[in-house]
Amino acid sequence: MRCLLIASILAGIVGSVQGHRAPVTARKSLGFGPIHPHAVYRSNPYQIATNGFLPQSPDADPFEVARLFIGDILGPNQDQASYKIRPDSYTDPSTGVTHVYVRQYVHGIEVADGNMNINVKEGKILSYGNSFFAGTPPSLIAVPDLRNFRHPQREYCQDLSAELETQFNVFASTQNEQAPMGDQKTSKSAAFAGPLTHLYYSNCQFDGLADDMALKRPQAIGDIGDMRPALLQFMVAATPKADVVNDILGNYDEHLNKMSVSGVNHFTPEGEQTYLFVDNVPDTVNPVKANIAYIQIPSKDGSVELVTVWKFEVEMHDNWYEAAVSAIAPHRIISVVDWASDAPIPVPDAPKESASYNVYAWGVNDPSEGNRTLQKENFDSLASPIGWHSLPFANDPSYRSVKPSNEFYRNTSTTFGNNVFAQENWEGQNAYINNYRPEAGSSSVYDFQYKPKVSDSDEAMAVAHNYINATVTQLFYTSNMIHDLYYRYGFTEVAGNFQQYNFGRGGREGDAVIANAQDGSGFNNANFMTPPDGTNGRMRMYLWNTANPYRDGDFEAGIVIHEYSHGLSTRLTGGPLNSGCLGWGESGGMGEGWGDFLATTIRSTANYSDYPMGAWAANRPKGIRNYPYSLNETVNPSTYQTLDKPGYWGVHAIGEVWAQILWLVSQALIEEHGFSDTLYPPMPLENGTVPANDFYRPAVGKKPLVPKHGNTLSVQLVINGMKLQPCQPSFFDARDAIILADEELTGGENFCTLWKAFSLRGLGTDASVQGRTPWGGGIRLNGFATPTTCE
Ligand SMILES: *[C@@H]1O[C@H](CO)[C@@H](O)[C@H](O)[C@H]1NC(C)=O
Ligand SMILES: *[C@@H]1O[C@H](CO)[C@@H](O)[C@H](O)[C@H]1NC(C)=O
Ligand SMILES: *[C@@H]1O[C@H](CO)[C@@H](O)[C@H](O)[C@H]1NC(C)=O
Ligand SMILES: *[C@@H]1O[C@H](CO)[C@@H](O)[C@H](O)[C@H]1NC(C)=O
Ligand SMILES: *[C@@H]1O[C@H](CO)[C@@H](O)[C@H](O)[C@H]1NC(C)=O
Ligand SMILES: *[C@@H]1O[C@H](CO)[C@@H](O)[C@H](O)[C@H]1NC(C)=O
Repeated sequence: MRCLLIASILAGIVGSVQGHRAPVTARKSLGFGPIHPHAVYRSNPYQIATNGFLPQSPDADPFEVARLFIGDILGPNQDQASYKIRPDSYTDPSTGVTHVYVRQYVHGIEVADGNMNINVKEGKILSYGNSFFAGTPPSLIAVPDLRNFRHPQREYCQDLSAELETQFNVFASTQNEQAPMGDQKTSKSAAFAGPLTHLYYSNCQFDGLADDMALKRPQAIGDIGDMRPALLQFMVAATPKADVVNDILGNYDEHLNKMSVSGVNHFTPEGEQTYLFVDNVPDTVNPVKANIAYIQIPSKDGSVELVTVWKFEVEMHDNWYEAAVSAIAPHRIISVVDWASDAPIPVPDAPKESASYNVYAWGVNDPSEGNRTLQKENFDSLASPIGWHSLPFANDPSYRSVKPSNEFYRNTSTTFGNNVFAQENWEGQNAYINNYRPEAGSSSVYDFQYKPKVSDSDEAMAVAHNYINATVTQLFYTSNMIHDLYYRYGFTEVAGNFQQYNFGRGGREGDAVIANAQDGSGFNNANFMTPPDGTNGRMRMYLWNTANPYRDGDFEAGIVIHEYSHGLSTRLTGGPLNSGCLGWGESGGMGEGWGDFLATTIRSTANYSDYPMGAWAANRPKGIRNYPYSLNETVNPSTYQTLDKPGYWGVHAIGEVWAQILWLVSQALIEEHGFSDTLYPPMPLENGTVPANDFYRPAVGKKPLVPKHGNTLSVQLVINGMKLQPCQPSFFDARDAIILADEELTGGENFCTLWKAFSLRGLGTDASVQGRTPWGGGIRLNGFATPTTCE
């Protein structure tokens, strides 16, 4: 099931407002869902063999191998469980691994969280994740009713209220020691507890409405009928605006009657989900997509039940939710993810003259590290075959005239191309096509002034607006560099990358990143929305009023990289069409952690140094996390068990622990394999082969090329791991997937190096977790052991 969460760079708000009157806002975002006690991830050949499954012939069709394997796993349950292999499954040419994504169906209805991801290579199952419902399905007629469910409404509300209270109290009481920024206590704990409060209100204090809706309780699935009450109830929890809540409550029937439902799209390609569309839903910016599904809810005795839900995709101004709300009153919100925290066409023979930009060059993290220089449109002929300033007329949302005959590509002289649409967004709204962009004319030179100066607070905004040409240019440059870099490490069209046009290489197109500079919807933050493959990702960068003159997040590469990396991890985990795999808890936290890790790795040099995140924009040497990333345990003491500490329920705090662990893993690989000064692989030769140079080890047959150095290898293993891990991975799953990625790429040469590095901060073989809650709780124990073969 899906809910939308915008992934922003930090949860609370940092920033002492130095005499500036700009409002400091925290974006509201919900994210939680059932923990599946029966979900497994198996990456160890012995575990897979225990299933009794034998490897097939190396040239067997990988999808056939997956079907046989599914049959084996389902065993006697086969009659009850039908499934579909999802259309975003793919064979990755960069690794040779086929990623098969499977969705479960019961009575022909999708089990929204019944997922398998099966990784197949040369007839063998490398690993798989499985969260299929394995209990007795409900009968078709008796719609499962939450009121009779084993976690009854009253008990559920007591549990929720207890968790709310604990998190709020503990968080508030630790603010004095943790918060160096004075007055953030109120806003930070409010930002923290706010979503849970709204959830409690919507799920547990809505008795009048719930009773009212209960009268309309349908009797059978065929008669589930009206989703509007469930949707209105969700909007009460989701909207950040008090006046909208009051309006819904005060004019309930009026809103209900105004919302209109239109039918299923009969032209949907075979095998695709069909939806209903709901118009006039308060506080949304597009019709809400709705469909009926099952979802699995664990009860306290460990059993799991299927509950019928409405699945909604709700696009709001600052959020894009995928939510599952029980179809029958009381309309409990069961899970919610904010998406916010893929016929060959000729490629032009000669690339056109490349553009140049006056920017902070790749590797210069922010203005405190260097000056702007003139950089070339450094496009990579594999990643961006037509460069950064062209796209097909047919795929250009801004092109309204008749396409000239016999021209396929339109060339632009602005920050608008196949990978990225960059523009100002001072209004902070969703429109972007007609927003202002710098114009380079026929020279293709994007060289604009950036001379911010101290001003009266009234004028600070105007000062920033005055260098908009430079800032949009920088955002466009950085985002395209990231597109090209990640492409070369395997974030390609089939893997769900962001491009308006896919050159016939598979995947879904029409999804360049919409990158908004100086977005007016907030301050002191940044965020990225990742809908499924084929729909544009949206990045919003903000000004930071932490200094005079204001600082512009677009100039801090680490923030842009962090945001873009949400798109990377969300599209790679659980498949390109499932954006609901990193919504909350440990998986949501790792969604943040990968961004910090990649941003820090990109800025690091052969001379080791510790690094903070966001230090320049926040005007704070320690940065926006609790600790800088460091080899030194005194400087950064985070361990796996740190997740149980007060203040670590939020995804950003969890992510910081994950990024620190990955930092130690990459340093161990660097120790072993040395350091490459560039992360960019060499350009392919004209015949399409990539020269090894000093970057890759010498090629062995047709096997994937292995990066030679520790920093490049760690980026490759982290990205390959994302493709191998299951939907909603835990820290353990993500660790195991990285170790498996090494097994596949190097034959397991770094097995002990990796285990030792993971174990340094408690993620050894004997680490454990018990009692995870949908809201981030649980009891964790560090484990420092490594496999016996490594001792
Ligand atoms: C875009 O540039 C390419 C390469 O220079 C050129 O072949 C093509 O004709 C241009 N497209 C248009 C519509 O001018
Ligand atoms: C930028 O250039 C100026 C003038 O050449 C120099 O004084 C300054 O140190 C440079 N800044 C950085 C961060 O390198
Ligand atoms: C941006 O660049 C254009 C074209 O060079 C120029 O006319 C305009 O004045 C610039 N805008 C600002 C705010 O400097
Ligand atoms: C690393 O430090 C050495 C010695 O101080 C210096 O010569 C070298 O230029 C530095 N390298 C980088 C990439 O900063
Ligand atoms: C670790 O950091 C602490 C505090 O900054 C410092 O006193 C100590 O010397 C450092 N240890 C090492 C091995 O660098
Ligand atoms: C591609 O070209 C390079 C350099 O000319 C050559 O060494 C290599 O063997 C060629 N590879 C293939 C597959 O033709």
